[in-house]
Amino acid sequence: MMLKAVILIGGPQKGTRFRPLSLEVPKPLFPIAGLPMIQHHMEACVKVDGLKEILLIGFYQNSEPLNRFVRSMQSELSVKVRYLQEYTPLGTAGGLYHFRDQIMSGSPDAVFVLNADVCCDLPLQELLAFHKSHSAGNGCTVLGTRANRKQAVNYGCIVENEQTGEVMHYVEKPESFVSDIINCGTYVVSSDVFQHIGQVFSRNYERSGDDEDLGIETQGTRDVIRLEQDVLVPLAGSGKLFVYKTERFWTQVKNAGSAIYASRLFFEKYAADSPERLTRSGDSGTEQPCIVGNVRIHPTASVDRTATIGPNVYIGPGVVVRAGARIRESIVLDRAEVGQHSCILHSIVGWNGSIGAWARVEGTPNDPNPNDPFARVQVQSIFGSDGRLNPSITILGQGVHVPGEVSVRNCIVLPFKELSGSLSNEIIL
Ligand code: GTP
Repeated sequence: MMLKAVILIGGPQKGTRFRPLSLEVPKPLFPIAGLPMIQHHMEACVKVDGLKEILLIGFYQNSEPLNRFVRSMQSELSVKVRYLQEYTPLGTAGGLYHFRDQIMSGSPDAVFVLNADVCCDLPLQELLAFHKSHSAGNGCTVLGTRANRKQAVNYGCIVENEQTGEVMHYVEKPESFVSDIINCGTYVVSSDVFQHIGQVFSRNYERSGDDEDLGIETQGTRDVIRLEQDVLVPLAGSGKLFVYKTERFWTQVKNAGSAIYASRLFFEKYAADSPERLTRSGDSGTEQPCIVGNVRIHPTASVDRTATIGPNVYIGPGVVVRAGARIRESIVLDRAEVGQHSCILHSIVGWNGSIGAWARVEGTPNDPNPNDPFARVQVQSIFGSDGRLNPSITILGQGVHVPGEVSVRNCIVLPFKELSGSLSNEIIL
């Protein structure tokens, strides 16, 4: 069996809800539990027997961080990794079609297609086994999970034949309730799916010819193909689309706030199967800080032994945390400096930022309801209907300086701002 994987990584115009952090690093490389978001996908891919190549498809141009990441993954995971760049955003299936020859070269038996912006304990081997046994090696099997009735409509909704696992109806973000099984943005496809995408492509071209005859501009839109609406919707009910349901953790990472929640899920996975990825408290009397719960501190960070860190904290390379600091439910990015006795809660501190002594940086978490097993992160807009900022985690962009003894609550601060006093519920542009 020869397999490949494609990860759809989007591009700079995507990930806008991730600003200001996606201004500095492509969103797919933002650290979740201390590793670039898509490294989690790639590690799951290489565990599948027969996986020979991982292709990243997106529209980032000459991104040095991305090129560096591709090189480092290629050597670390011992698998071929390539980045294929779309000339314009082609949609979630347009890039698959545009690069079909490269994807299908060597005739893989099946191809995994993964959205970059999901965090999941991906059951790829199980998904593949289900695909082989249910779809007779044709068509597509989508990974599904359950959401509660209220939230399901924010996703792609799947109505299945429970006996056969076939998808009978697929509706992307329906206006009213259709089903509580939602599309996880993870698929395994066989080669015939490229023919279905090709049919959509040809139809779009014919249609664009008619439109051009009417003087309608079609350049830039006719090559766009959406996997969900243009391909899955017509495949439903045709015997070629199946759903494999998982109960493992799954969440989307649309805005920066969901990165803290997604980190927590991956930290729990580390605790279960790769505890060496977590930093543990030293024995009493050692120079280690006090660690609470799941924490990952980069080996090049320097954390004072009187600081208390955790739970759910990632501290990046070169970060300095001074005496008595308290950090929980937060992400502190490379080379930031956290002053003595400062306190950071539910926040992301950007690259090279600095937090003064005795300052308090705090946000409001946006976690799903812990009492509802099918609740998902609610991706809320930045502003409420009253025009006020919705309370959210605090995000300090790259190089933001927070002076000593001030408090910053529920704020989003754009890069390189020097704050002069306390702030709450504001966006600092
Ligand atoms: P939204 O809630 O509107 O964001 O929809 P969604 O959750 O269905 O996400 P969307 O379809 O926009 O993106 C799914 C994944 O595909 C993400 O990882 C995107 O980065 C990626 N993606 C979206 N559009 C494109 C595209 O034109 N080209 C490529 N290569 N990737 C894309």
